[in-house]
Amino acid sequence: MSTATIINGREVAAQLRRDIAGMVQARIEQGRSRPGLAVVLVGEDPASSVYVNSKIKACEEAGFLSRSFHLADTTAESELLALIDRLNGDASIHGILVQLPLPEHIDVPTVVERISPAKDVDGFHPFNLGRLAAKTPTLRPCTPYGCMRLLDAYGIDPGGQHAVVVGASNIVGRPAALELLLRGATVTVCHVRTRDLPAELARADIVLVAIGQPRFIRAEWLRPGATVIDVGINRLASGKLVGDVDFDAALDRVGAITPVPGGVGPMTIACLLQNTLEACEALDG
Ligand code: GUN
Repeated sequence: MSTATIINGREVAAQLRRDIAGMVQARIEQGRSRPGLAVVLVGEDPASSVYVNSKIKACEEAGFLSRSFHLADTTAESELLALIDRLNGDASIHGILVQLPLPEHIDVPTVVERISPAKDVDGFHPFNLGRLAAKTPTLRPCTPYGCMRLLDAYGIDPGGQHAVVVGASNIVGRPAALELLLRGATVTVCHVRTRDLPAELARADIVLVAIGQPRFIRAEWLRPGATVIDVGINRLASGKLVGDVDFDAALDRVGAITPVPGGVGPMTIACLLQNTLEACEALDG
């Protein structure tokens, strides 16, 4: 029988969202501003539409002002940049999120760097990433931040542990490595060119995976008792959602693991709300 702890992201996220809603309520009662988030979706990517709708719903439940902008996939880059300029100058908006991926004709770094760092609630602007790298975090990428809050909630301290991050994307892997380093882990980052992934994983006390490959990580690669944070959300042909780790097999081997769905996913949204509240406090007091 499995003795692994299943890390319940829904529960931790719900508590964080309740705390945030309470703080928003208190702000309003004190006559301070209501946090406002603008969510921009370009095109019709079905997964992006689902994520964006969840973000808008969570905003409204927390008492935030939310404004959504759905642009056609033929929208010119200049038009998107003009919208960002407008939102940068709009005092009722404290957070600006442009959902990724963007259509091919739009340059992601140009868009990300146009968002005012003070309103960059995704934490993707080089200023905010640089602050995280320099051990002085400001707004930080939501998914890695959510992973750290899950570890905190379960009393798992990365300090001194060997953490292996699988995947080196700008959205998850790279900032996750910075978060783990900030918390005192010894960090290895693996990616498509890593020569011997199982050998790296065999040394890992904490494994954080974000590669978007269904059940790619096999249970026998994991060190017995390891903590596994699975960021992947993959839909199988059957419609079932699975992570990047072979969850059922891993249960008999690991110490703790996040399920998919119900692990990291809900934390990303809760941390987006947290960032928007922080941006609002920094901008308006
Ligand atoms: N696409 C996948 N994850 C994210 C995210 O956290 N933020 C944005 N803006 N786009 C994403």
